[in-house]
Amino acid sequence: MLSRQLAQKLRAYETPFYLYDMALLRQTLESVVYESKRYGYHLHYAIKANYDDRLLAVIREYGLGIDCASGNELRKAIEAGFDPQQIVYAGVGKRDKELRYAISQKILAINAESIEELYLIDQLSAEAGCKTDVALRINPDIDPKTNHCIDTGQADSKFGISYEEILEQAEALKALPNINIVGIHLHIGSQIRELHVFENMCNKVNVIVENLESLGFSFRFVDVGGGLGVNYDVPENEPIPNFASLFSIIHNHLKVGDREVHFEFGRAIVAECGELITSVLFNKTTATGRRLVIVDASMTELIRPALYGSYHNIENITSEETLTSKYTIVGTACESTDVFQENVSLKRTKRGDLISLKSAGAYGMSMASRYNLHDLPGAVYSDEIE
Ligand code: LLP
Repeated sequence: MLSRQLAQKLRAYETPFYLYDMALLRQTLESVVYESKRYGYHLHYAIKANYDDRLLAVIREYGLGIDCASGNELRKAIEAGFDPQQIVYAGVGKRDKELRYAISQKILAINAESIEELYLIDQLSAEAGCKTDVALRINPDIDPKTNHCIDTGQADSKFGISYEEILEQAEALKALPNINIVGIHLHIGSQIRELHVFENMCNKVNVIVENLESLGFSFRFVDVGGGLGVNYDVPENEPIPNFASLFSIIHNHLKVGDREVHFEFGRAIVAECGELITSVLFNKTTATGRRLVIVDASMTELIRPALYGSYHNIENITSEETLTSKYTIVGTACESTDVFQENVSLKRTKRGDLISLKSAGAYGMSMASRYNLHDLPGAVYSDEIE
């Protein structure tokens, strides 16, 4: 929770903006690095969660690599100084120019998501006169027990290649002359809070890897993706996600052999260190009795509630009132789904109060849009506040 003193200082900045707690980001990185070192695991940061330059600089300091999902994300990672040999690139629909760029950068692996893509990488590598390292992104058909909008590894999902298709094509894939199939990749979904799901994932991966290796593939690494969830309900209770539990599950259930194990965390690294700070513009009550608080942010700064029905804990950080009331917090965009939350209990709220939407460091700024020609939100870093 923000101190009253800090909250008052935030009045100096134009709202809406993302506020980043740089100390918490560092503590989170210390935790994930410390816990992963116990097992020698390799870490990538999923840059789609937040591509803010200052956050990236800190993440790089801790030695993480990057997982990217587009040519521009790859470019951003390289410009931010990340070692290409610590960068992986997944995505169901990579365009030729994006693949050409990735091939030229000699990254750790392009995580291929279809058989056609593998053939294309082979052809483009031949044209570039090189051999490219790729990983097979497989669809393991696992229910990650999360919001259906953000699951990615069930059989009918657009992500990854089905295991059956890889089996059918195995001989032809091994013969492609301009690619080295060096790894297996999967990512079953995001905001996973039921960690036993990862146990099922390991059991499936063990069988898949064993069968594919018996067909003559040889994998240097298994990249198990990201997905570790955070506590949106009561972020104060768990500011740093439980990396230790996840790693211990993977350690106990994944047959690793001499392969490297890679993770690609997005949300777990940056969600809790960011909050969206917005000002109350107006209060009004609908004819049906809905008490609206209209804030100066909207789905254009934070689309998660409108897009996935996601919950963000909301607090009035400047109200001096002791009494609370129930409000519906809505944004400025011309969309009826632009509602941050119905019926939230807040300290009595008036025009000019500052409202915080917590746990918004991941998939907040990076999904912001300019609908209604809104300006993109700014960023304020805790270590720069005077
Ligand atoms: N690796 C791959 C291949 C991914 O597709 C993703 C996320 C990650 C890693 C990182 O997952 P994380 O550790 O953050 O769960 N916009 C949605 C989340 C979409 C996630 C997309 N892929 C949201 O706001 O909840």
